[in-house]
Amino acid sequence: MDSREIILIFGLMLLKIGACLEQICWDVEKAPIGSVEVSISCSSIGEMRASCSSDGDPLLYSWTLNGDPLMDTISSIVLEEGTDGNITCSVKNHVSQGQKTISVKHCPVSSGSVVFVLIWCFQLMVLLGLLGGFHIYTRHVR
Ligand SMILES: *[C@@H]1O[C@H](CO)[C@@H](O)[C@H](O)[C@H]1NC(C)=O
Repeated sequence: MDSREIILIFGLMLLKIGACLEQICWDVEKAPIGSVEVSISCSSIGEMRASCSSDGDPLLYSWTLNGDPLMDTISSIVLEEGTDGNITCSVKNHVSQGQKTISVKHCPVSSGSVVFVLIWCFQLMVLLGLLGGFHIYTRHVR
């Protein structure tokens, strides 16, 4: 065995050790998934959105509704109108995984738009009142 071969073998060993260390460090850097939280929010137009959050470094999100997998792989999804049942968010990374199930109910149907219409009617009444008042006022002044 000449010195060039020894250097070559030594170099390959160093490369191998480096790759191992890199892998170990990478796994350690990833924090394990802690508690997973799912929240449901309803927008004013009655759209229901489920959001998933977790401690740790999430890599993959997956969802099931009453045990059936959903296609979404992101942390926040829009649910179809009238979705009912138990929704589960599963979070996974290289070192661990966690999940959380909550039950979803319908969004209160467009209660937001009822309030909106009421405010709009009120504003219209105030505006008409002001216009009427102004009309009477200008008549009296002339
Ligand atoms: C949701 O979960 C609750 C409690 O685990 C269960 O009683 C209920 O039947 C489930 N609903 C559906 C639609 O699977």
